[in-house]
Amino acid sequence: MCMADTFLKLDHVKKYFGGVKALKGVSLEVKCGEIHCLAGENGCGKSTLIKVISGAHNATEGEIYIEGKRIDKLTPIDSIRMGIQVIYQDFAVFPNLSVAENIAMNHALMTGAKKMKWKEARELALHAMEQIGAHMDPDILVERLSVANKQMVAICRAIINDAKLLILDEPTTALTANEVEKLNIIIRNLKEKGMAIVIVNHKLDEIYRIADRLTILRNGENVATGMIEEFDRARFVKCLTGHEVADDIYRPEYFEEEIVKVENLTKKGAFENVNFTLRKGDVLGITGLLGSGRGEIGDALFGLAPAETGTITLNGKKIEIRSVQDAMKYKIGYVPEDRLTQGLFMDRSICQNTVAASIGRYMEKTGLDHKKMKEVTWQWIKTIGCAASSSEAMMRTLSGGNAQKMVIAKWLNTEPSLLILNGPTVGVDVGSKADIHTILHELAKKGIGIMIISDDLNELIHNCNKLIIMKNGQTSGIIETGDMSEAELTGLLNSGM
Ligand SMILES: Nc1ncnc2c1ncn2[C@@H]1O[C@H](COP(=O)(O)OP(=O)(O)OP(=O)(O)O)[C@@H](O)[C@H]1O
Ligand SMILES: [Mg+2]
Repeated sequence: MCMADTFLKLDHVKKYFGGVKALKGVSLEVKCGEIHCLAGENGCGKSTLIKVISGAHNATEGEIYIEGKRIDKLTPIDSIRMGIQVIYQDFAVFPNLSVAENIAMNHALMTGAKKMKWKEARELALHAMEQIGAHMDPDILVERLSVANKQMVAICRAIINDAKLLILDEPTTALTANEVEKLNIIIRNLKEKGMAIVIVNHKLDEIYRIADRLTILRNGENVATGMIEEFDRARFVKCLTGHEVADDIYRPEYFEEEIVKVENLTKKGAFENVNFTLRKGDVLGITGLLGSGRGEIGDALFGLAPAETGTITLNGKKIEIRSVQDAMKYKIGYVPEDRLTQGLFMDRSICQNTVAASIGRYMEKTGLDHKKMKEVTWQWIKTIGCAASSSEAMMRTLSGGNAQKMVIAKWLNTEPSLLILNGPTVGVDVGSKADIHTILHELAKKGIGIMIISDDLNELIHNCNKLIIMKNGQTSGIIETGDMSEAELTGLLNSGM
């Protein structure tokens, strides 16, 4: 385990990508046996800093000390040898290998063994699982595991390599509330054993539950650092964003006008007899535990997995949705849940991504109107608050949260009649979250149907005036949120309805 009091010290680290100054001189100190949260707005440099610590990026300038020793040039292999393990959002597990192979993999690399011995790999894996209290079949292929279990595999792999510092970049985005609790227990245990832990997370409630200390960055610079107790919510948000963020509750006035009416919508095995009316002004939330059918309703309305029976009426007209093409024809937009695989072309420019779902509008006799496409993209970059240097930058160079904002922009640019957003602000910072919500409220008031599918109860209560709770494919019927509290909503979610 970690021997010195301070495991890692970064002194005025800078990292430039050409003209983009991602880190302008960041200092960070991580102690053994502490859970240190690295916080800050999208694009402030958190992931870049982590990549400097893991040796994936060379710092442009600055000093790095590990256990008191100055490190001149940190390579990825040095970083691992010195006990640094990073778990990125995609966990970097190999789906077509078994649990045991995945866990033992780096160990073979690190010890210089030429071949992985089967028996040894299994034993290592079982030992690692025991340490964190995970129970998985070591012989099962990783592709068959849930997201939470894939993450467990990544943690097991990290700890058998003698990790002294474990860094988790947004580890909870794809986890359910129960899974987050389990992860917290494991993290606290590792901390008790003296491991240093760094976590990036945009959900303030979760940070308060796990962090001992905080370092907040803004724009590639340090803003504040201290024990979590020193930051009440107001100070935290102020440090993150540089201003206060209004926590408005959206409760629109009542309009008669029906935008979407869904009657008896059924897809066997997914959901049954779903009924709701979304009127002008409404922001309708759909929630439920994982596997409740909440996502499937979005998939059906967007034609990804169409419903079998029932009717959908959009702006007074009955429509049939059998495919995505049908949905797009009726101007239905869908911000998918899994932004990394469904939403974006990472190796294309921001501009190409932004106009991807509305390309017809830029088609001229002489070809595509690139000037107009770029202008529109730049407008969206500003409206949605995306930290991008140009509309022509590669999608891949955007930070996670900024990429997510552009998925939303892409669909807003289609001028939809109905926009369904599944987990729209996952990975988005508090300030930008509020901005995105305001945009959605404005659209709803103009008569565009807005549906938010989410398990973020706070987000739902603040932004949806109506809610549907799903359980085993059955719906609760429409619930007016009124002055409902988060605790009441939790109660409803866990009740028999
Ligand atoms: N390979 C790259 N080339 C050019 N710019 C980059 C590259 N990687 C990151 N950047 C830029 O560096 C800045 C910091 O990005 P980083 O990914 O570190 O942000 P972050 O704090 O992790 O944000 P988020 O909360 O959205 O994940 C951003 O402006 C980003 O666009
Ligand atoms: Mg990031």
